[in-house]
Amino acid sequence: MRFSDRIALITGGTRGIGKALALLLARQGAALVLNYKRNEQAARATLAEIEALGCQVSVCRADLEEPAQIDALFEHVGKRHGRLDFFISNAAASAFKRIADLNARNLDRTFALNVRAFVLGAVRAVPLMGAGGRIVALSSYGSQRAYPTYANLGAAKAAIEAWVRYMALEFGPQGISVNAVSGGLIDTDSLEFFYNVPGIPPMESVLSKLPRARRGKVEEMAAAVAFLLSPEAEYITGQTLAVDGGLSVIAPPFQADATAPLAGAPPPRR
Ligand SMILES: NC(=O)c1ccc[n+]([C@@H]2O[C@H](COP(=O)([O-])OP(=O)(O)OC[C@H]3O[C@@H](n4cnc5c(N)ncnc54)[C@H](OP(=O)(O)O)[C@@H]3O)[C@@H](O)[C@H]2O)c1
Repeated sequence: MRFSDRIALITGGTRGIGKALALLLARQGAALVLNYKRNEQAARATLAEIEALGCQVSVCRADLEEPAQIDALFEHVGKRHGRLDFFISNAAASAFKRIADLNARNLDRTFALNVRAFVLGAVRAVPLMGAGGRIVALSSYGSQRAYPTYANLGAAKAAIEAWVRYMALEFGPQGISVNAVSGGLIDTDSLEFFYNVPGIPPMESVLSKLPRARRGKVEEMAAAVAFLLSPEAEYITGQTLAVDGGLSVIAPPFQADATAPLAGAPPPRR
């Protein structure tokens, strides 16, 4: 129960990675506020699942593209708990298009949800954290690498990682650590959605290139976030931790495409 008496706010916390994190924190004693935008059914199901664990949990609908709704979300946290220990900025969405096809609305909405909501949320979270707390943002390898249709969200994720470093600097003296967890291909609805964008090559062609040639699990992302929230991570701040099966370290020519004598399992050690 390493998170007992801790209060955590997870944006987009009722589905996917956010939900896996909510379950992990709930099992370890945390009290939770889970935000969502419109999927009422998922919110109700997650609420019931977490309540059944005996955890103190509430869900709060707020469209984080709207600053007034971010304020309302933090007012909910303040009224219900009076303080906050962990702010996890997890909600994300974007328009996956060629750069030439992106319009001003696509750019504004992606920035508003992914970057502005993280910053405004952190600004609201800090006073609720008092003498210390943790902020973790979810990022992806699109912040550093380029691949088709991801420019809009990739640039937002790069901004998030930069904000993480600046927040670590400014909030550190208040005992607040700020980090990011950057995911690879993690098994969620949004991964399925991305690989169904017309023109994107089959997911298998990417997975087969990875040092760990499979999708990541939501529980593996949640475990990395939980580590950054744990007492063991007290001295880690301003960092981005990759959970991607090695995706971000490989380059062409790919090991997976190598032929003899380089292909295959390494020889047994004597
Ligand atoms: N899945 C991956 O492969 C992968 C890889 C790397 C990084 N990540 C990152 O990990 C995080 C979680 O990803 P995921 O795949 O688990 O997400 P997901 O399954 O698509 O869930 C997204 C969550 O964000 C919420 N949301 C969307 N727009 C919102 C808005 N305007 N205001 C408030 N909430 C909003 C959704 O609410 P509703 O339920 O109401 O729709 C949902 O709870 C994201 O930051 C993502 O970029 C994911």
